Amino acid sequence: MVRYSKNFSQLYDEVMYLPDKIFLKFRRKRLLSGLSGKILEVGVGTGTNFQHYNNDTEVIGIEPSPYMFTKAENRKNRLPFPNRFTLHNIGCGYSEMQGLIQPESLDAVVCTLVLCTVPEPQKALTNFMKWLKPGGRLIILEHVRAHHRVGIKAQNLLNPAWERLAEGCQLNRPTDILLAESGFQLVREEYFWLGLPFYEAEFKKPEK
Ligand SMILES: C[S@@+](CC[C@H](N)C(=O)[O-])C[C@H]1O[C@@H](n2cnc3c(N)ncnc32)[C@H](O)[C@@H]1O
Repeated sequence: MVRYSKNFSQLYDEVMYLPDKIFLKFRRKRLLSGLSGKILEVGVGTGTNFQHYNNDTEVIGIEPSPYMFTKAENRKNRLPFPNRFTLHNIGCGYSEMQGLIQPESLDAVVCTLVLCTVPEPQKALTNFMKWLKPGGRLIILEHVRAHHRVGIKAQNLLNPAWERLAEGCQLNRPTDILLAESGFQLVREEYFWLGLPFYEAEFKKPEK
């Protein structure tokens, strides 16, 4: 059971401010601004992505940390159209998710910097597949396991401390490989380096 910390939520925006502004903001915008319809955003954190959704969206956001959740609620309430967002203080894998999201009801699922942390990522991907309409999009922005031995060794070594500092985040999780094996169809992918190997991608649920 993860113990969520107020300090982590308070430091998150400050620590992320510059990397986000310089390296991630344009990627978030590119990934999110073209989406429409009903969207599930998994682990909204403090709500960094909210500004990038267009007016043609209805966003259901989930966030299990009560501290992150409060920050996300506050950010949502400052938006010009807060009613487009409904936030729930729960996480992927919680039993409440099954009542919240009906099968084949979503146009997109958004996961930015979160699949590194959810406890059972394969199970989460199976649920996303179930909840998305055929052709629905899965949007990914994530750090991933290195593709060479030295990098993997370094990540494995650092992971125990990292995991404690970053509330369960797995530095060495091969999310790109899990996605490749998930049954989703790749639309576009890009690897980039940000002190860690990162991965930006769009997938879609196969049409029937
Ligand atoms: C590194 S933050 C990323 C926040 C935001 N998505 C972003 O792009 O800035 C990871 C977030 O995932 C949340 N999280 C942890 N476990 C989760 C779960 N099982 N389901 C959904 N979100 C979870 C954490 O509380 C945290 O807010």
